[in-house]
Amino acid sequence: MKKPAEAGFRCFGGDGVFLTLLWENDDKASTVLDIGCHRGGLLELIHERFRPASLLGIEPLVSARRVAERRLARFAAHTQLFGAEAWSNIPDAGVDLIVGHEVLQYIGDLSLLMANIRRAIKLGGFVYLALGCHTENPIWNSWKHELEALGHNVHDHSPLEIMAAGARAGMAPSVRPLRDTGWVYHDPSVSAPFSYPSVGELLDHQFRQKLLFRFECQK
Ligand SMILES: C[S@@+](CC[C@H](N)C(=O)[O-])C[C@H]1O[C@@H](n2cnc3c(N)ncnc32)[C@H](O)[C@@H]1O
Repeated sequence: MKKPAEAGFRCFGGDGVFLTLLWENDDKASTVLDIGCHRGGLLELIHERFRPASLLGIEPLVSARRVAERRLARFAAHTQLFGAEAWSNIPDAGVDLIVGHEVLQYIGDLSLLMANIRRAIKLGGFVYLALGCHTENPIWNSWKHELEALGHNVHDHSPLEIMAAGARAGMAPSVRPLRDTGWVYHDPSVSAPFSYPSVGELLDHQFRQKLLFRFECQK
C-alpha cells in the first residue's frame, strides 16, 4: 500500500505544472490517473518520481493526447489515455492516486466528477486537485473572460463547493495553498495571456490563491 507523507513538500516544474505532493509509492503495482493530462507533463514527472506500474490520463484534446502518448511510450509503465467521456474505462477501485492540475474550471458537473473519482479510487487512496481558477481568486474573473474570448467553455467553482462535492461523494476533503515557498519566475516584458497586474497579485496567486485540494477515500 502507499500512503501520502507530507512531512516535506517538493516542488516540481515542467510543462506548466507544479506538483507539490509527496507520495510514497511502496507498491510497484500501483496506478496513477491524471485528469486533464494534456501533453503528459505531469504523468512524466509522476513516472520519474514514483515509478508506478500504470499511468492513466483523461484528456479530451486529441492532439494533446497524441503528444502524451508519444511522450509516455518511452517508459516501462503501462499507459492508457482516454477522452473526457471515457471514465467507464477506468476500473472500479482501480487507481491508487488521482491528480489533476488546473482542470476543474473546465468541468461543469462537480458531483458527477467526484462520483467518477470516488468509484475509481481505491480504499485508502488519495486525490490531489490543484486549482487557481476558482471564484475566491480575485484574478479568476479576468482570466475567465480571456478563456471565454478564446472560445473555452469554463465554469465558476468556489473552493468550498469543490470540497463539499468531494465530501458528498464519500471522500474526506482538506485543502492547503499549493506552494508556500520558492521563487516565482515572471518576465513582464513578454506579453502573455493570463497576465498579472502587479507583483502583489502575482505572489497572492502563487502562494495563497492557488490551492491544492486533497480528498481521502476512507470508506
Ligand atoms: C489548463 S489545462 C491543464 C493541463 C495540465 N493539467 C497542466 O497542468 O499542464 C486543462 C486541461 O484539461 C483538459 N480538459 C478539459 N475538459 C476536461 C474534462 N472534462 N475532463 C478532463 N480534462 C479536461 C483540457 O483539454 C486541458 O488539457
